[in-house]
Parts: sequence; structure tokens; C-alpha cells
Amino acid sequence: MNTFPGPRIIVALDYPDPEPALTFVGQLKPSQCRLKVGFELYTRSGPAIIEKLVGRGFDVFLDLKFHDIPSTVAKACAAAAKLGVWMLNVHVLGGRRMLVSAREALESGTKRPLLIGVTVLTSHEAGDLAEIGITSSAEAQVTKLAALASKCGLDGVVCSAQEAASLRSIYGDQFCLVTPGIRPLGSARGDQERVVTPLAAVQQGANYIVIGRPITQSPDPVMVINRIINEIAHS
Ligand code: C5P
Repeated sequence: MNTFPGPRIIVALDYPDPEPALTFVGQLKPSQCRLKVGFELYTRSGPAIIEKLVGRGFDVFLDLKFHDIPSTVAKACAAAAKLGVWMLNVHVLGGRRMLVSAREALESGTKRPLLIGVTVLTSHEAGDLAEIGITSSAEAQVTKLAALASKCGLDGVVCSAQEAASLRSIYGDQFCLVTPGIRPLGSARGDQERVVTPLAAVQQGANYIVIGRPITQSPDPVMVINRIINEIAHS
């Protein structure tokens, strides 16, 4: 059962400029997918790109992974909510007070965005974690940070499909799992190391699957999206 209704596909709009991003989005429908705007596009285009995408009826995930002192993060979250984003994220490593401040900052708005925690970056290997003072395994660290996110009232976490099943069993259906590293059958892995198919991710418990290049670099993005929708329809 998916507690979070509507399209499960979040297309990562990893474009350097707003024009090609908006041209690409012109082919898509809000009923098929949601959109993710990250550092590159946001740094280049600012709030205008969010307003345009929201204006076209899309749910927008603002992927800026806020991590700062509680009051600064709270104000950034409130500013994002004013832009009308549907989802935003913060680093769980920011700690309890930052997480609670972020959640509280969103509570006053009329349409509250989903607040999602980033646990351990999938680019971090054991050696990278040790170097920044984290001696537990990546898996143990994800579990610890997901627990903190849940305790602080966040709506869910970003996680790999490999982590999704165990997080789902611990936190239940109300905890939102957002999963990147997805590759539809037959598409190139690119720089993603551990990839799973859309169906496998959903079966592992992902509520939303983040997919970039297999859709944005396809000659027929709508066909790829429809194929994924069909693939996961009966999961
Ligand atoms: O093109 P691709 O499908 O690999 O894009 C995946 C998107 O998800 C990118 O925007 C990337 O930054 C993001 N992401 C990821 N792995 C994570 C967290 C975010 O690939 N662990």
C-alpha cells in the first residue's frame, strides 16, 4: 500500500540552465511525475524556476539538503514553503534542534511541504566516514539517523533501495522513503554504483523513486515514464 498518493516518479531536473529544463518539462504532465530541482539548477536559476514549475502544476522537490544552525535552517525551510514546494530536505546530521526547528517552521503554512531527512550520502564509503569521525558502519549510521529523523517528526528520509525494506519494517507505512539510484531495465548506469529497477525499489518499500538521466537523456522521455508507470502499477 502506498500511503503517499499520486505519481511515484520524481524526475531529477539536473540541467545547467533553466531554458533546456523548461523545454524538457514541456513534454511532461503533472499527473505522471513530480520534479526535483537540485543545487545546479537552483543556483543558476533561483526561485524563478521553482515558481515556473509550480505554476505549470508540478509538485516540486527542492533538493538543497539544508544543514546549518537551527534558526537559519528554519528560515530557509519557511522560504522554500512560500515558494510552494511539495517536498524539501535537510541533513539529519544537523541534529535534533535543527530538525525540530525545520519541522516547526513548516507547520504554520497552509500547504505544508513534506520534510525529508538525508542520512548518509551514498557517495560515502567506510573510509570517508571514518575520516569525518563516524566509526559505525554506513548501515548502522543510516539506522541511527533515520531514528532521529522519525523522533523529530520528519516525514521520512532519502535512502537507497537496499535500505528501504528495513526502514519500512521499523517505521511503518507513514514514513516516507525517497529512493534514488534507480535504473529501468536496459538503461545505462552512468556514475551510479548500486542500482535497482523501479519495480524492485517500490517492492522494497520506496514511496517515491528519483530518476534523472534515464528519463532526461532519453529521446522519448514520455515513453520511458509510461513504461515505468506500467512496470510499478501492480507492485
Ligand atoms: O541521473 P540519475 O538518475 O543518476 O539522478 C539521480 C538524482 O538523485 C541526482 O539528482 C542525484 O543528485 C540524486 N541523488 C542520488 N543519490 C543519492 C541522493 C541523491 O543519485 N544518494
